[in-house]
Amino acid sequence: MASSAENRTGRLIVFEGIDGCGKTTQLRRLGQWLSEPTWPLKTLPSPPKIVVTKEPGATQLGAALRQLLLTPNEAEAMDPTAELLLYAADRAQHVACQLRPELEAGAWILCDRYEDSTWAYQGMGRGLELDLIAQLNRIATAGLQADLTLWLDLDPEQTRQRLRDRGAADRMEQADAAFHQRVRQGFTQLAERHSDRTIRIDANGNEDTVAQRVQQAVLGWERQN
Ligand code: TYD
Repeated sequence: MASSAENRTGRLIVFEGIDGCGKTTQLRRLGQWLSEPTWPLKTLPSPPKIVVTKEPGATQLGAALRQLLLTPNEAEAMDPTAELLLYAADRAQHVACQLRPELEAGAWILCDRYEDSTWAYQGMGRGLELDLIAQLNRIATAGLQADLTLWLDLDPEQTRQRLRDRGAADRMEQADAAFHQRVRQGFTQLAERHSDRTIRIDANGNEDTVAQRVQQAVLGWERQN
């Protein structure tokens, strides 16, 4: 059990993966499953409150930062360090205003992206110094770690096709294929480094198949905790 879980009954479950891997859909599906009348897990005698949230953009400050981060600006490219600091600001506000209070009140939080995204995108993707990112993540999270990270792994070529089909391409999603390969490599390294809290989910397959894999992963994790 990650140290963040000490002294609280809440749990922080994070979904990670490259753009278009399906994590937002799967997060919603897990939320529905955990909210079914028969609470599927045995850890708690009664179902906890389920909170669904995301980064960037969950708080009021975060919504403004998300707008800045994800709106393409042809006239002035965003400096990678400025981008890193905006993600960190979003996270600090999220942890302080929402994640910590909800966890202390016993909620189970399903969070769409967290600190691993900064390591994978700004560190591996943009090439910023990894030590600096680790340090900044510690500051932004104030030490709050995920209890479980579900990494939805899919080949970038397949995710690009999904994004094209969806007609969705924001600033990050327009990035080149090599960038997304580096980001995937980042998630691969993180999964090895944090194998105690990370489960790789094969995100290849239809929505129901992947949802089953996610549920099995959560059941297995719960049995070990
Ligand atoms: P995403 O979850 O993909 O939102 P949406 O489904 O609305 O596109 O996240 C938005 C983008 O933000 C995504 O391309 C990854 C990027 N991102 C970072 O680069 N660093 C971070 O620390 C986080 C949280 C996100």
